[in-house]
Formats: sequence, C-alpha cells, structure tokens
Amino acid sequence: MSHQDNPNSTNDREANMDQKTQNQARHTQRRDATRRPVSSHSLADVANSRLSSVGVPSGSSTGLEARGIHAWFGSKHVLEDISLDFFTGTVTALIGPSGCGKSTFIRILNRMHEFIPTAALAGEVILDGKDVYDAGVDVTKIRLKVGMVFQKPNPFPSMTIRENVLSGLKLAQIKIENADELLESCLRRAGLWDEVKDRLNEYGGALSGGQQQRLCIARSLAVNPQVLLMDEPCSALDPGSTLRIEETIRELSASMSIVIVTHNMQQAARVSDFTGFFLADGGPGRLIESGATNDIFTNPKQQRTEDYVSGRFG
Ligand SMILES: Nc1ncnc2c1ncn2[C@@H]1O[C@H](COP(=O)(O)OP(=O)(O)O)[C@@H](O)[C@H]1O
Ligand SMILES: [Mg+2]
Repeated sequence: MSHQDNPNSTNDREANMDQKTQNQARHTQRRDATRRPVSSHSLADVANSRLSSVGVPSGSSTGLEARGIHAWFGSKHVLEDISLDFFTGTVTALIGPSGCGKSTFIRILNRMHEFIPTAALAGEVILDGKDVYDAGVDVTKIRLKVGMVFQKPNPFPSMTIRENVLSGLKLAQIKIENADELLESCLRRAGLWDEVKDRLNEYGGALSGGQQQRLCIARSLAVNPQVLLMDEPCSALDPGSTLRIEETIRELSASMSIVIVTHNMQQAARVSDFTGFFLADGGPGRLIESGATNDIFTNPKQQRTEDYVSGRFG
C-alpha cells in the first residue's frame, strides 16, 4: 500500500512535521551552532505502508526517533546529520563499512556516547515524545527503556545464570513480586530457557558463546525495554548460534523496536524490515540511504548503496 492510499497518513505526517518543527526550534536554542537543517531520511512512510499491508493499524508508535544527529570525538566530526525513525514492532539494520559511525550512532541512542572522553554530540533522540537529552532526564531510566547488547557477549562472570538475568533490576533497585516467573519468561523470550532451565545456578561464563549472547539478551529483557540496540551481536558467534539469535530477534521485534548493526548483508536481509546505509567517504559518517530492506537490497536509489550491498567495497 502506498503512502497516498493510507487514510491516516496525511494527518500523521502533519502531526509529525509540527513536532519536528517544535523540536528543531527547541534544539537550536539549546545546543551548538554547528547543527545543520534536519534532512528527511524518515522511514515513517515505508513503515506505515508495511504495517498496513500486514493488517496492523497504521500510525503505529515510533519506538525511537533520531533527529539531526551529529557526533564528534574532539575536533573530529564523525557523524553528520543523521535522522532515522525506529518503529515499535520492527527491526532496523544499520550497515556500512568499518569506521562510518554505526557504533557511535547507536551509543548516542541510549546515552552511552557522552561518557566517552572527548565525545560531543548535537541533535535529538525522541523517546515517548521527549528528547532523552533534555535537562533533568535520568540517564539510568533511559538505559532501562533502551537496552544494549554488544558484539562480545559480556555476562557477569561471577554471577550465576539466574543472577545475570536479574542483575539489571537489582542495579536499578526495581523490586518485583515473582522473580522466578520473570526469570523464566526472559530466558524463554531470549530462546535460552530449554537449554538452561536445569542449570540456573551455574555461572554465566560456563555457557557457550551463543548461549552467553542469549543470556545477555535475557538480561536486557528483564527491565522491559522498549528498544533493544544490538551492535554486531553475532560477529563472534558460529553460524548455528547466529541463526538462533536471528530467530530470537524476530520474535522479540513483535513487542519492541530493535536496531541491529551488522556487517553481514544476509543477516540484514533475513532479520530486518528496514535498513540504513552509512558511509564516511573520508569525512563524517552520513546516512546515504534508508528504507525497506527489500528496496535497499534489490532496488537502491543510490549507486553507492548498490555498490556496497553487492559487495563492490567495504
Ligand atoms: N572512543 C573514541 N575516541 C576517538 N575516536 C573514536 C572513538 N570511537 C570511535 N572513534 C572514531 O569514530 C569514527 C566512527 O567509529 P565507529 O562508530 O566505531 O564506527 P563503526 O561502528 O561504523 O565501525 C571512526 O573514525 C573511529 O575511529
Ligand atoms: Mg562498530
């Protein structure tokens, strides 16, 4: 279904534009002068048309929106004007050669970037209608809503499987009624329950690499995030574990928004609904093209996208 066929799309777009204008005004007052106008790399149209076509009501909620994101390390400008929407119920793959800023970009989405010495940023990250960088926002709460899974599985080695899954709640001082139920449901959703249900008191480090990565996913799920960021989560895993994680990603995406950085084009094609292609080209990383994964892989608009996805460079 095209955007024009969608009866709600005009209103949605107008509402979106209003908010964009307001946010732009707020942003300009607050941050630096280096910021450039927000470009429209929105995935909203394709997201809405896909969701309509599978019978889900259009105007589905935006899990997270990045608007006009720039990043620096010292004086080095590493990301330029990235705007992308991440919808609930979808998986977005971020692809591009090493060094084009993919990791930096997703670290900005959950406020990890600012803790790196010399790091600076501009732009907005909208979650639940508010900029996560607004003054007074509690960073810990943002991290609970926007979870992160890293390239190398990093369970706490001196904690049991059970303790690992529940560790986020403890850190955030969240009390829960039935820890065993939550433990089981997180491990089930992460696709690990059947393999560990009889060894919940063993150390996390005793698991295989693929199991450790699913344990880290279960740990992220325990605090009930709206968005899960995954930075090359399968690059250290064997093909079997990779497929298992991909299944898990597809299952989880029904209830949240997932953003996955991957160098594996097949993985992006298998697992994602939308794809954003980043490229640095000697300067800061830019979003060259974004859209439905199928279009990016079969009918990209930009020659550089086609060259990259067909393996001519990168
Ligand atoms: N902690 C850091 N300090 C300084 N420069 C960094 C740091 N992390 C990344 N960079 C630089 O920022 C750019 C983007 O890096 P990164 O986000 O890791 O790219 P990608 O994940 O696409 O490989 C690169 O030029 C990299 O060298
Ligand atoms: Mg990276």
